[in-house]
Amino acid sequence: MIIVIGSKEDFHSQYVFNKLTTQNIKVKYLDSRKFPIINWSPEGEQDYIILDEEKIYIKDITGIYWRWYYGVTFGTSDIVYREKTSALESFLCSVEPISWNSLQAVELHRKKGLQSKIMQDNGIRIPKTIVTNDANALEKFYIENNKNIIYKPVRGGAYTQKLKDEDLLRKESLINCPCQLQECIDGIDIRVYAFETGEIYAGEILAQSLDFRADENAKINKHNLPKKIQKDCLKIMKLLGLKYSGIDIRLSNSGEYVFIEANPAPMFVHFENMTGYPITDTLIKNLI
Ligand SMILES: Nc1ncnc2c1ncn2[C@@H]1O[C@H](COP(=O)(O)OP(=O)(O)OP(=O)(O)O)[C@@H](O)[C@H]1O
Ligand SMILES: [Mg+2]
Repeated sequence: MIIVIGSKEDFHSQYVFNKLTTQNIKVKYLDSRKFPIINWSPEGEQDYIILDEEKIYIKDITGIYWRWYYGVTFGTSDIVYREKTSALESFLCSVEPISWNSLQAVELHRKKGLQSKIMQDNGIRIPKTIVTNDANALEKFYIENNKNIIYKPVRGGAYTQKLKDEDLLRKESLINCPCQLQECIDGIDIRVYAFETGEIYAGEILAQSLDFRADENAKINKHNLPKKIQKDCLKIMKLLGLKYSGIDIRLSNSGEYVFIEANPAPMFVHFENMTGYPITDTLIKNLI
């Protein structure tokens, strides 16, 4: 039995669900908005979860594909909401060994500043970075980096943009909401899908925009990743508790690989279609 954390409203959840079903592998969605019946204990032997009226013993689950966690729906009161969240998330954390990926890894990715620090502390080349809501610090960083910096969210959810002189005029707005600033790595994007089982699939994304997702016609070609960078990918995954990841790298115009982030629940179907890499098969093999 495999569990997909998500729902059929999410393309990748449905894609993996359908692939498993066509291979006659039993699979269920865990859509956390419909709070399941769970019976969980620290010993674990008789733990179960009831999904679509089917009782599933946790010991019969071989893999959990984490794609889209909706959290717990706010119900009648704060206390009920907190209790449900704590019960469900204790369960989700306890199944970390079979989770691709775990709640803990997903939570770390929501704190991108911390993810960057862990990489930096362990000798991984990342862009010079600050997270700030101090306008003076922003201006100083801009000048120090020859006015070649980008800004993007600390947690995610908006495109990366180049900072321009005129942005300094509205720097007061920064006080209300911190952001992440980085030296701009001029070059191209490399996306790597790496698995702890050793498979590494790398592609270069040739986009017309700074953030490749803003260019619908971006081309993706296979990329030969140097051995040292492959090793760095696996090292980052270990550091961040990831069993697999969609890792973003910038390859600078001078040939340097600079790590941007490691995603715990990446989209991959478009990339797979463009490159022919067997990403779905590798994921499913590991879930089984
Ligand atoms: N320092 C940088 N220099 C140049 N380009 C960058 C830099 N940081 C980000 N980018 C571009 O913006 C893209 C998105 O940035 P990043 O991966 O950090 O966040 P994100 O994908 O928006 O995060 P999430 O997926 O959580 O929403 C990168 O893939 C890259 O194309
Ligand atoms: Mg990214």
